[in-house]
Formats: sequence, structure tokens, C-alpha cells
Amino acid sequence: MRILVTGARGKVGAAAVAELTRAGHEVTATDLGTPDYGALAPGEAPYLQADLTDAGAVQAIVRGMDAVVHAGAIPDPIHHAPHVVFANNVMAGFNVVEACVRWQVSRLVNVSSETVPGFIFAEREILPLYLPIDERTPAAPQDPYAFGKHVIEQWCDAAVARCELSVVSIRPSWVQRDADDYERNLGPLVRDPTTRSLGFWSYTDNEDLAVAIRLAVEGELSGHEVVYIAQPDNATSWRLDDLVAAAFPDADIEVRDTTAAPTRAGTGRSGIDCSKAQRLLGWSPTRSWRDVLDDDGRRHEDAAGNP
Ligand SMILES: NC(=O)c1ccc[n+]([C@@H]2O[C@H](COP(=O)([O-])OP(=O)(O)OC[C@H]3O[C@@H](n4cnc5c(N)ncnc54)[C@H](O)[C@@H]3O)[C@@H](O)[C@H]2O)c1
Repeated sequence: MRILVTGARGKVGAAAVAELTRAGHEVTATDLGTPDYGALAPGEAPYLQADLTDAGAVQAIVRGMDAVVHAGAIPDPIHHAPHVVFANNVMAGFNVVEACVRWQVSRLVNVSSETVPGFIFAEREILPLYLPIDERTPAAPQDPYAFGKHVIEQWCDAAVARCELSVVSIRPSWVQRDADDYERNLGPLVRDPTTRSLGFWSYTDNEDLAVAIRLAVEGELSGHEVVYIAQPDNATSWRLDDLVAAAFPDADIEVRDTTAAPTRAGTGRSGIDCSKAQRLLGWSPTRSWRDVLDDDGRRHEDAAGNP
């Protein structure tokens, strides 16, 4: 398939380009940065510079594609002014969807976010009624990032009603790219499981996420499906019900799945249920923080690069 990947120089986009290229697709990468005007290295995807908030640029680069993976966005609400996050992400998402409709693209994989229900960046804390969170958990975003992701998902609903485009919106939890990421981001949770985690101790491995993106591109789903992507285990050695009891002792959160994670001995389940992605996409995550970190949250001596 001819596939355009936006945000291709970012964490998620770069892994998606690599995974789709490995699978034999004809991938074009696009991002904000300047191109390298030299010859392509063997296996390197061609690159187009475009600002996705520029509708004309997006129309030009989407033309002729069979599928688009949209991973170009500001990835949180805390490093830019709120209006910048909202304007950039929503306008970019809107333009990508519009171009897919206009050029009769078959499949859009919209990289959304676990933040849509609103727990992670809420100014006034809200908590889920039950864990693990799943696609039935209501969306109640308070911040410009999660609110923008919710708006884009709704625009995807409108798009599939208007034409034959099908969309998979993937909501990854906190993405870990390499051993440095794992140690810096998850090490503190591994060391202190009682930390009040509003991502509910969930995380996503970037390589497993790239596989989910590829499966979403290649699959035969119709309409617009929203799926969570997270590793099946949580980022501690504790069970989910014990984590909730320790970190949210006064909260009324029903922990519906208290079994061990299916993939690893001695790990509890993630606070996010990704069984819909496993069922619809045939996704089977293989990685765990335990491949990279020891019980003290420090990287194994041999875990220098990717897990
Ligand atoms: N990193 C995470 O933990 C995480 C979790 C859930 C969802 N996501 C989502 O995954 C996607 C990718 O995030 P990431 O972690 O790779 O972030 P990243 O910052 O590493 O990459 C995002 C890329 O998008 C590009 N971009 C931003 N605005 C653009 C614009 N107007 N035009 C063109 N390109 C633009 C940036 O230049 C950057 O290269 C985003 O949609 C993000 O919201 C990330």
C-alpha cells in the first residue's frame, strides 16, 4: 500500500515508518523539519516537509495515498500554551481527515490518546468508576490536548458517515521508546507502586505500538473503531487491586479484573484494557518493562538500546 505517515520524525511516527517499510509498503514520511536534499539511503522512506495546519499542504501530500497514519501532533498539554496545543492538533487532524475524504483514501489510522477520558491532565481530579479503563469509559476531557483528541475522533465519526473511508483511532498509553525512556519514566513507578498514577500504571512499548498501527492499516475494518493500546501488564510488580487500594484509598473505584497479567509471571494487569485491539486487530503485544528494568526499576546491564 502507498502510506503517508505524519509526525514521521517523532517517537511514534518513526517507529511506524520503520514497521510499515519492513512489511513492504511504499511509505512516505512527513513532518515539520527540513528535508535532507541528498539521495535516499537504502530502505529509507521518501520525506516531504509539511505543516499539517496548512490545509493546502495536507491536500497535496495525501493525494494518491491508499492509507494515512496520522501521528503528527504536540503530544501533551504541558509544554506549550493551551491555544497552541489545541489549534495545532485540531487543525492538523481536521486537515488530514478532510484530505482523506477528498482523495478517497481507504484507511486512516488516527493516533489519538489514552487521555480522552480526562483523568490524566484534569485540573479538578476525576477518577474512573472502574478499572481497567476500556472503550466504554466516558470521555470527559478538561484540557486542550485531550479535548482536541476527542474532537478529532468525533470528526472521524463524521468522515466515515460521509464517505467510504474507514478509520481506526488508536489510543496509546504512555509510550516508551528505549531503555532510557523505560528507566526515566517507569523506574519511579517500579520502585514505588503506591504512586498515585492517573495513567493507572499503564504504558505502551513503541515497537508493539508500531505493530498495532501496521495491523490497523492492513486490516479490513469498516466505519470508525476506537481502540486502546497498552501493554497487558502494569509498570509495577503489584496487582491492580492492590495498587488502587494503596494509591486511592478513599476512592470508589471498582477493580473488575484482579487476575495476573497474561504475559508475564509476577506482574499485575494494566489499568487499561486493550482486549478490543487484540480482538479487532489481532494484536498480540510481546514486550514488558521487565525486559528492560530490574525489580528496582534500573535497567538491566545488557538493556542498552531497544528492549
Ligand atoms: N508519547 C506518548 O506517550 C503518547 C501517548 C499517547 C498518544 N500519543 C500521540 O502519538 C502521536 C505521536 O506522538 P509522539 O510521542 O511521537 O510525539 P513526538 O513529539 O515525538 O512526535 C510528534 C511529531 O509530530 C510533528 N508535528 C507536530 N505538529 C505538527 C504539524 N503542525 N505539522 C507537521 N508535523 C507536526 C512533530 O514535529 C513531531 O515530529 C501524537 O498524536 C501524540 O498525541 C503519544
